Amino acid sequence: MCGIVGYVGNQEAVPFLLEGLRRLEYRGYDSAGVAVLNEDGLAVRKRIGRIANLAELLREAPVAGRVGISHTRWATHGGVTDDNAHPHTDQSGALALVHNGVIENHGALREALARDGHVFRSQTDTEVLAHLVGKHFQAVRGGAGGVAVSAAQLEEAVRSALSQVVGTYGIAVVHSDLPRVIVGARRGSPLVLGIGKGEHFLASDVGAIARHTREVVYLKDFDVAVVTPDGFELSTLNGGLSGYEIKAVEIQEKDVDKGDYPHFMLKEIFEQPETIRDAMRGRLSREEASPKLGGLNMTNAELRTVERVVLTGCGTAFHAAMVGELLIEQLGHIPAEVEFASEFRYRNLPLPKDVLVFALSQSGETADTLAAVRESQRKGHRTLGICNNVASTIARESDGGVYMHAGTEIGVAATKSFTSQCTVLTLIAFLKGRIRHLSSAEGLRMIDELEALPDKVREILKLSDQIREVARKYSHVQSMMFLGRQFNYPVALEGALKMKEISYIHASGHPSAELKHGIIALITPELPSVFIAPEDSVFEKNLSNIEEVRARKGPVIGIGSEGSRRLEQICDDVILIPRCPDYLSPILNAIPLQLLAYHTAVALGCDVDKPRNLAKSVTVE
Ligand code: M6R
Repeated sequence: MCGIVGYVGNQEAVPFLLEGLRRLEYRGYDSAGVAVLNEDGLAVRKRIGRIANLAELLREAPVAGRVGISHTRWATHGGVTDDNAHPHTDQSGALALVHNGVIENHGALREALARDGHVFRSQTDTEVLAHLVGKHFQAVRGGAGGVAVSAAQLEEAVRSALSQVVGTYGIAVVHSDLPRVIVGARRGSPLVLGIGKGEHFLASDVGAIARHTREVVYLKDFDVAVVTPDGFELSTLNGGLSGYEIKAVEIQEKDVDKGDYPHFMLKEIFEQPETIRDAMRGRLSREEASPKLGGLNMTNAELRTVERVVLTGCGTAFHAAMVGELLIEQLGHIPAEVEFASEFRYRNLPLPKDVLVFALSQSGETADTLAAVRESQRKGHRTLGICNNVASTIARESDGGVYMHAGTEIGVAATKSFTSQCTVLTLIAFLKGRIRHLSSAEGLRMIDELEALPDKVREILKLSDQIREVARKYSHVQSMMFLGRQFNYPVALEGALKMKEISYIHASGHPSAELKHGIIALITPELPSVFIAPEDSVFEKNLSNIEEVRARKGPVIGIGSEGSRRLEQICDDVILIPRCPDYLSPILNAIPLQLLAYHTAVALGCDVDKPRNLAKSVTVE
């Protein structure tokens, strides 16, 4: 949700800033801008639309300079206009600031500043923050009695301003009187500092700077960084020392490049044989016929005392959590429940002492999920993360967890992260079962089934062309329904979400048997239903529900098991995939639905990787 890049060094800043912004475009793409410092002072260029629009503006009106900050925006406060684009400047016009997050008390701050004569050009909360930092900077400089301006003064101004702020921020600030300095700070929104030789970087995500640095420092909440070409200093918001660790950059260039694929989403769908394997790698012990999950930081004896599990997350992660609920009940024999993170954070769920809370988040930065983690910890519950981004806040703040190891996911529509989350949840549920009631023979059978998954996924990916034809056939429709039962009800919800977010076709997901309780009123020849109906324990029931739709002339697309003649006979179109045990079917069944949504969106000419109004990582409430 908004991306920031900063460069301070001995080379021209703009190429670094543009390249970094392109890599962060998944975080928002309503507008983009840069602020660069040079001998003439501060130059700002910003424009609505994609980074390409900003690049065009910079060709028309170039700016030189070796220090700069930049931003790609996902609009929260104020419409998508050039004025609302970042960077924002202060009252003097000499200070520029970029921001990722939300300043909740911006209204009160704006009124107070306006009373002091500040004039605002935008409707954003960020401009208020820029003015506030500028005001404090004037005060600090005035108070210094004409002493030469220093980075410490800007740092102090940033600190004073942020101490008045309620909300979240990752910011970068420059001032024309300090031509070799960027001040950064974070609370609730990610910020990483990249270390180079004679140059340093700031970014919302390490992917933006991975080409130029192999060493980074992930800022913690309330860290303030003063960054120059030759070094950096980190302190806390109240002026204390901030301990930090220099970490190696783990991602590679290929992780943030779409290679020969037309879209990141397709690349990521096709990566799933490997990402599912990576989610299991080193975690299955044939000797013990059991998963081994050291990251949980819990002994088997401790795990055995867990009497209840709560799973939380948002969007796709929430759907994976729903799968997890069923897995933990069925394989682990423990009561489990799932709750939207955005609701969990405000609910006062009465939970027993021996509850385990799992927070699922690909990015590990989703504001609602992070708040749920903190709320859960506040109440004394052991809270574990299932994250992809190992350097993320949720990963850091959780009491332990299991990483997904899916590699960077850039497509805004989550794909490989869903199947990795389901794989990790299967391991957790399997472990819970194995330390209580599952036999070692059953454990070995489950390991065989898990290890067979990547090859089955490869088989499904070979159906991409067939799925494209089905997608083309139905791409003209206004609305679609996705139906499934048991393990495949969350998959129906996920299929509908994928369809909505990238093709803009209205879609809804339901338990198949709910049809007759009202939804069936919608069935017409113009509304296709996608039934996820493998030959599992509820196959016959699904067939009856399909018949009910057919009786009302509704077209049916069936996702079923290889060789499923009966499904073939009653559906208009079928996509048949390899068989697997019920508990693994969400992993396999999600993939044809990802491809169906993808090919539909492509057929409609939609911008698959950057769907309208969305951003990859939702770091605001
Ligand atoms: O990074 P997270 O897993 O916490 O993200 C949660 C949701 O914002 C995310 O899954 C979103 O729903 C995706 N766009 C779905 O494709």
